[in-house]
Amino acid sequence: MAETLHIKDTRTGRTYDLPVRNGVVRAADLRKIRAGDGDAGLLTYDPALGNTAAVRSRITFIDGDRGVLRHRGYPIEQLAEQSSFLETAFLLLHGELPTASELEAWTRDLHAHRLPPERLDRLFDGFSPDAHPMGVMISAWGALSTYYPDARNIFDEASRRQQILRILAQAPVLAAAASRVRRGLGPARPPDDLGFVGGFLAMLFGDEGSPYRPDPVLERALDVLFVLHADHEQNCSAFAMRAVGSSHADPFSACAAATAALFGPLHGGANEAVLKMLTEIGDVGHVPAFIERVKGGDTRLMGFGHRVYKSYDPRAAIIKRTADAVFGVTGKNPLLEIAMELERIALQDDYFISRRLYPNVDFYSGLIYQAMGFTSEMFPVLFGVARTSGWLAQWDEMLRDPDTRIVRPRQVYEGPAARDYVPLDRR
Ligand code: CMC
Repeated sequence: MAETLHIKDTRTGRTYDLPVRNGVVRAADLRKIRAGDGDAGLLTYDPALGNTAAVRSRITFIDGDRGVLRHRGYPIEQLAEQSSFLETAFLLLHGELPTASELEAWTRDLHAHRLPPERLDRLFDGFSPDAHPMGVMISAWGALSTYYPDARNIFDEASRRQQILRILAQAPVLAAAASRVRRGLGPARPPDDLGFVGGFLAMLFGDEGSPYRPDPVLERALDVLFVLHADHEQNCSAFAMRAVGSSHADPFSACAAATAALFGPLHGGANEAVLKMLTEIGDVGHVPAFIERVKGGDTRLMGFGHRVYKSYDPRAAIIKRTADAVFGVTGKNPLLEIAMELERIALQDDYFISRRLYPNVDFYSGLIYQAMGFTSEMFPVLFGVARTSGWLAQWDEMLRDPDTRIVRPRQVYEGPAARDYVPLDRR
């Protein structure tokens, strides 16, 4: 028997049966529920879209109550342990893990598309020396859209594939250039003999003219962190990518919008905010007083809480293990002790327990990045390099979905009723 939602509208006494499929009613079905003539029909009010499925997706599954995250059905734990970032990116974009020859072709194609146009180098000259690299990234994506006007052919599958290769392959080159702005250095080219992650590290930490060999433990750790950040279904930046993409803007412009969304401290900027918070706390002995300030509503415990996860974020658990490997090479980050004490106290405090606030992906990632030599303003950029794969997968899926229309939410108007204009001399 078909499942329905039986509704009685007490305003009119009428009853309705709305179809329910996969636990979902179509919001548009509510429009037929009207109080009378002239009523446009029932709307739902859902600020932040917290209980609204705005898309159908086959990419990422999250069960926030059980702390489950899967990409195309594969658990994040297995991907983090056994795959690489490029393999996971292929999975997100193509739906299946690559065969050995597909992975080889994918790696080769990305390598062939990794160099941004040379004239773009001049863009990086124009920034102030203390420019935040996320602002630089937003500009760089926008600038690239002007170099690749063919990217506007969004319904041409071959063109779409080429833009995906360009965006994914050039993300680390732009990110390294954005970081180098603050050191007064021009953009670097990735060395030919290193992979995606190794080449990125070389552009950031290598010396001009001398060969750079990344530490294999650190290279693998960053690869794992990229896997963990690759996608997270309909988060703020993925939604920005889809929303802007739904207007049929090119994917470079949509990436600029997604990067802007990621910049905020409630999203990708949280890892940077965690480091700032830990530095300000400064000493394990100050942790209880800080927790009291959080409970008093004075500040937030950054790196804690999540809209979807109401138990431990599975990515945070993997990151904690990765931290051990990294600190084995770099030495322990002195802020680690403060972070662990915050977690210990928070996890047994009723304020956090009752609100189901647990460490999220950002709580420990900043400590690893800092130990590896990244400055804190680069943390959201690292998140963005990895998340580019998810944004592109979400964008490509959106364009293939016949249900897609330009994003255009409704509102509840609460302003003044109609009134006549008052000339200036009579106000
Ligand atoms: N510290 C203290 N209290 C918190 C925190 C926190 N980090 N997060 C939520 N709360 C409280 C909040 O004050 C509210 O309490 P009350 O019911 O008394 O008003 C309750 O918990 C529910 O919070 P909310 O703001 O309604 O929850 P949300 O789902 O809108 O926000 C969040 C989710 C991630 C924005 C929020 O938990 C937060 O600000 N966390 C800190 C920033 C952070 O770590 N962000 C990274 C998210 S994971 C990476 C990513 O996806 O970008």
